[in-house]
Amino acid sequence: MATATASTKLLLSDLASTVQNVPSNYIRPINDRPNLTQVEVNNHGVSEEMINIMLNIARRFFKLPESERLKSYSDDPSKTTRLSTSFNVKTEKVANWRDFLRLHCYPLENYVHEWPTNPPSFREDVAEYCTSIRGLVLRLLEAISESLGLQRDYIDKSLGKHAQHMALNYYPPCPQPELTYGLPGHTDPNLITILLQDDVPGLQVLRNDKWVAVNPIPNTFIINIGDQMQVLSNDRYQSVLHRAVVNSDKERISIPTFYCPSPDALIGPAKELIDHNHPAAYTDFTYAEYYEKFWKRGLETECCLDMFKTSTTASSF
Ligand code: OGA
Ligand code: NI
Repeated sequence: MATATASTKLLLSDLASTVQNVPSNYIRPINDRPNLTQVEVNNHGVSEEMINIMLNIARRFFKLPESERLKSYSDDPSKTTRLSTSFNVKTEKVANWRDFLRLHCYPLENYVHEWPTNPPSFREDVAEYCTSIRGLVLRLLEAISESLGLQRDYIDKSLGKHAQHMALNYYPPCPQPELTYGLPGHTDPNLITILLQDDVPGLQVLRNDKWVAVNPIPNTFIINIGDQMQVLSNDRYQSVLHRAVVNSDKERISIPTFYCPSPDALIGPAKELIDHNHPAAYTDFTYAEYYEKFWKRGLETECCLDMFKTSTTASSF
């Protein structure tokens, strides 16, 4: 009997490895147990059900017959709904181990009619997810504005009419993951990214010159700062260098939502964050200009920000 052994040990560290069951003196009344599966580990306001629906839709989309998936195929980055592979097949020298479906999703009514209709609930479910993520982003933008000492609605007001894109990334198992990337190191060109990943590791971020794995936590989003946040905040926030690696035994799904200024929005460092000690680090530009450079330059050069630095701060070009 386990309790017989237990009684001979003074300390838990000696007892713990010898028992199969928790001795009776540790067992709490049924109404006073920790309910381990019912712990709220987040406050993002997107339901677990919606997260699972979204991941399942992505899984099912990439399992459709090739002929069905190819209805959405295009290698033109300016298309607002398209399935493609790698990053930019037209310009890149080395391919990446990834397929992706990219969708514009704000304002919804401008784009939903372009989206796939298979799986049958695709449009309805993805639209609901997008709306919910947008709510989360708007709350984050208020908090980030305040953290910079700006008016709560400062960032909201800087984005013109706003825009939102998303990708459904599919990384198949790779026979030689040490030879390639799902996505090589890059910063996201948009403002802020809300990344949902399934339970397969693959995301890494650069921290103190070392790549660190950001392993999945169920029902949890990764929030990545993008280039436009770095510009608006005049370098107070830094866009994060990140990459996706692949593995040999499991497929991986990730679903980033890229929140952006609208193409016509004029972006530059907030005037309130410019002073003698902090000169404007970037020239003003429209988001359309920036975005075009990003897709043209590709991921060979990790970040486009250098192209918009002011002459006093520019380092290398
Ligand atoms: C991206 C990205 C990371 C991932 O799509 O921009 O960084 O984990 N994805 O798939
Ligand atoms: Ni990214």
